[in-house]
Amino acid sequence: MADFDKNKFQSKNQEYATPIELFKVLNDEFAFTIDLCADENNKKVDKYYSEEENSLIQDWKGVCWMNPPYKDMKNWIIKAYEESVKHNSIIVCLIPARTNTRWWHEYCMKGEIRFIKGRPKFGGCIHGLPQPLAIVIFGSDYKNNYRNVVF
Ligand SMILES: C[S@@+](CC[C@H](N)C(=O)[O-])C[C@H]1O[C@@H](n2cnc3c(N)ncnc32)[C@H](O)[C@@H]1O
Repeated sequence: MADFDKNKFQSKNQEYATPIELFKVLNDEFAFTIDLCADENNKKVDKYYSEEENSLIQDWKGVCWMNPPYKDMKNWIIKAYEESVKHNSIIVCLIPARTNTRWWHEYCMKGEIRFIKGRPKFGGCIHGLPQPLAIVIFGSDYKNNYRNVVF
């Protein structure tokens, strides 16, 4: 019988950089003004919040790109939704599609969801990521729309 307890979508490295071709398509569409989770070496936008600054205690204003560390996904998603409402900002999140979690149903489903078809190869990886990924977009013009995208 399969041991489902060990069958988790986990990775030791939570810091994989977004594939540049995937980011470029989204940046062409949204023109991001800030990268919410980054460091000097992997930032995708000149303006960014680092771990030291702790994005989770900052204001998220403008057009925001978010590929967060996976270990605290619930708090990143709650913050993304709440900041989009508070500041009328657009927040585009690249996250694991954990569609059986409460945070997915209570927050992600308020935004626009684009399910990624395929396995994008992140920076620092030899293979494409096996876990299902989605782009979730929060902002007043991005609601209750669901579709598939290929990268
Ligand atoms: C998955 S990487 C994304 C890197 C890059 N933004 C990209 O899209 O390719 C997550 C980044 O978030 C940073 N990070 C971790 N905790 C953070 C925090 N509390 N606030 C801001 N950045 C954080 C990590 O150092 C890492 O560089």
